Amino acid sequence: MKVLVVGGGGREHAICLKLAQSPKVTQLYCAPGNGGIAQVAQCVPIKATDVEGMVKWAKENAMDFVMVAPDDPLALGMVDALEAAGIPAFGPRKNAAVIEASKAFSKELMKKYHIPTAQYETFTELDAALSYIDAQGAPIVVKADGLALGKGVVVAATVEEAKAAVRDMMEDKKFGDSGSTVVIEECMTGPEVTVLAFCDGKHLVPMPSSQDHKRAYDGNQGPNTGGMGAFSPSPHYTPEVARRCMEEIFLPTVAALNAEGRPFQGVIYFGLMLTKDGPKVVEYNARFGDPETQAVLSLLDSDLMDIFQACVDGTLDKIDIKWKDQAACCLVLASGGYPVQYQSGYPISGLEEAGQNATVFHAGTKLGEDGQILTAGGRVLGVTALGATLEEAISNSYTAAKPISFQDMHFRKDIGRV
Ligand code: AMP
Ligand code: GLY
Repeated sequence: MKVLVVGGGGREHAICLKLAQSPKVTQLYCAPGNGGIAQVAQCVPIKATDVEGMVKWAKENAMDFVMVAPDDPLALGMVDALEAAGIPAFGPRKNAAVIEASKAFSKELMKKYHIPTAQYETFTELDAALSYIDAQGAPIVVKADGLALGKGVVVAATVEEAKAAVRDMMEDKKFGDSGSTVVIEECMTGPEVTVLAFCDGKHLVPMPSSQDHKRAYDGNQGPNTGGMGAFSPSPHYTPEVARRCMEEIFLPTVAALNAEGRPFQGVIYFGLMLTKDGPKVVEYNARFGDPETQAVLSLLDSDLMDIFQACVDGTLDKIDIKWKDQAACCLVLASGGYPVQYQSGYPISGLEEAGQNATVFHAGTKLGEDGQILTAGGRVLGVTALGATLEEAISNSYTAAKPISFQDMHFRKDIGRV
């Protein structure tokens, strides 16, 4: 099969590596890809959001299957467009990807179908939003409705902070149109766990649980990032919690989407908070998480292409998906200054040596003219190692990362420990 993966980060590198191991996949392409993906797939210089360009290329080059990984092309309807062109595609259609693209939609869905989540109200008028904050008091959470690169959420400790966030979004349009509607919700507390689940429209199969680290600095300090590391499985996700999540959240979500005429095919990302009143949904995403995927897929012992096909064919109940009984840890090596301001284009050394003891997924890299791998983004690499226990996986990934260096390299020292 000729298979195209859309995207170009660490998550897509992890997906490409797994697909490259499948005997079914004879030719693998990735658009746009990156310096590391280029070692396992042929990179195609098309932007992930260029729906028309992507479909045209996939058609002209006779792709048998396309996997759409990032949120924005899914929200733009890339899967719908590929299907219309007769190309099987993994990922939700636009009308189901909306569970990530609109927080107002997903909150409404959860309310209607009694799926546990934080109490909330949606606002399109500034004054009403400000009065609501006064009435509720702090702490309180303010969210821009649309996609905002994971940065449209403010957990406000004070009423003033919450009001400033609403003004930023509604008055100053900090996130453009994404902030013209805001969701204001109750602040929940408890450990946060991610569960990614394969879904074929009818059946749902959860992957091992995981946790990511969103803040830039040790001790969960500093600005929010796309994720500074992840590990799997989460010690908080006990079999009892898993059972409750399946009954109270996962299956009701699949049923709710079906009842609304929006069957979901692809990966649903359940961002969960384990509160004292039970597990509740913090957010849905309509795709694999990054960097959770780098940890989770490292534990997969089955053919990923078989799973993708089963999702598209609606036969997920017919296959057996196997996972290693181990733990995995992905340590992100970032550019100094990320996520605020950073320089790119620095040569990276030590990759080969690190690769002997771990899988080094490339997030923001490119191939220089002389074949040298250069930094090309905020998050540069995700060094991912396995271990018999979580402790061992953490220690293995830090040890493996030691030989790697590039100018101003920054990483957290406490991945898996907080
Ligand atoms: P989101 O983009 O919705 O995942 O939000 C980003 C982060 O904000 C989450 O991972 C949580 O840590 C935090 N967060 C979001 N909603 C809430 C909430 N209702 N209560 C407490 N923390 C929240
Ligand atoms: N790691 C969080 C996300 O992918 O949204």
